[in-house]
Amino acid sequence: MQRAFQSAKLGNITLKNRFFRSATHDYFANEDGSISERQLDIIEELAQHRVGTIITAITTVRADGISIENQNRLDDDKYIESTRKMCDIAHSYGSKVFVQLAHGGARSLLEAESMIYSPTSVQLNDDVFTQEMSKSDIDLIVDDFVKAAQRAKLADADGIQLHAAHGYLLSQFISPITNKRTDEYGGSALNRFRIVEEIIKRIVSEVDIPVIIKLNSNLIRGNHFIEDENETFLADVVEMVKEAKSLGCLAVELSGTGFQQLAQISHPYFIHQAIEVKKQVDIPIILVGGIRNTKHIQQVMDANIDFISMSRPFICEPDLLDKFKNGQFKARCILCNQCFVLPTTNGRRCVFHK
Ligand SMILES: Cc1cc2nc3c(=O)[nH]c(=O)nc-3n(C[C@H](O)[C@H](O)[C@H](O)COP(=O)(O)O)c2cc1C
Repeated sequence: MQRAFQSAKLGNITLKNRFFRSATHDYFANEDGSISERQLDIIEELAQHRVGTIITAITTVRADGISIENQNRLDDDKYIESTRKMCDIAHSYGSKVFVQLAHGGARSLLEAESMIYSPTSVQLNDDVFTQEMSKSDIDLIVDDFVKAAQRAKLADADGIQLHAAHGYLLSQFISPITNKRTDEYGGSALNRFRIVEEIIKRIVSEVDIPVIIKLNSNLIRGNHFIEDENETFLADVVEMVKEAKSLGCLAVELSGTGFQQLAQISHPYFIHQAIEVKKQVDIPIILVGGIRNTKHIQQVMDANIDFISMSRPFICEPDLLDKFKNGQFKARCILCNQCFVLPTTNGRRCVFHK
């Protein structure tokens, strides 16, 4: 437990402890996608209460990649100023900020005249299909990730996180379920990872900002976990993580799809996968999903996993780390998932917190 509260290195960055706030969309961006005063307050409350590293809400790199209402954006220089304000606030408490960059792919919201991109065409409803990306579409999107990373650097962010999990564009490429391509972007694990590889390579060489990545460690088809395919998928993930490391990626946040349905699991959801990846690749692992109490934190530290990441517990109790430090055993969060609903229905974030 003590170790989790002690300062740690991530590449050349000194973090004040081993706790991350996992990327969390809050539904409170300004209408134009810039960071609002309410979002600044959320970041300040976390930083004030010891959260060492804050990964922002999902932030789109392109207008046609917006995938949730009231999403933050970094697809234009006009967003740099509010992003810098957020970083300044976190820095004033000694916390670090990683901006999470994403494109929604097939999960993007359908706007009039906008194209919905995906690795392989899928039917969204009766007469709407997504557009299978051509090589030049891929090049454009890679370019937009690089430009957004440049803006994050200009805003004084400490790094960026590529969102390659939870079913958004990059994870649509990674998953063999949603990527049926027969060109160099489909097929083998490294082919499916190629778009991510191109993004990391260019950000590392052209922008020179620390890069971390969020990856799924499981597969889901519809609402069903497909255990029999998960072992093969994990072997693919190991290959991808090795590749990410060799390209200069500093750490991997290991997550999984369907986390909302795992409330009955009493250990950190993806700890077994994290242990396996850690065994095979020497790269810092940030574990997220279902970490709820000081026993879990100890379990993660004992497994030699480097960092602890939480989302819902911090929505419920932004001061949770103070409470853990002062002897509270478990988070108050009851995993009711109302945090996905309340912000747009009554402006609150949690049944227990404002
Ligand atoms: C309200 C809400 C918004 C979220 N937004 C994002 C997001 O923007 N990007 C992301 O990668 N994950 C997002 N997540 C997932 C979390 O980062 C995390 O992976 C997941 O909640 C599991 O961790 P937990 O058990 O500590 O909540 C969100 C989760 C919640 C509850």
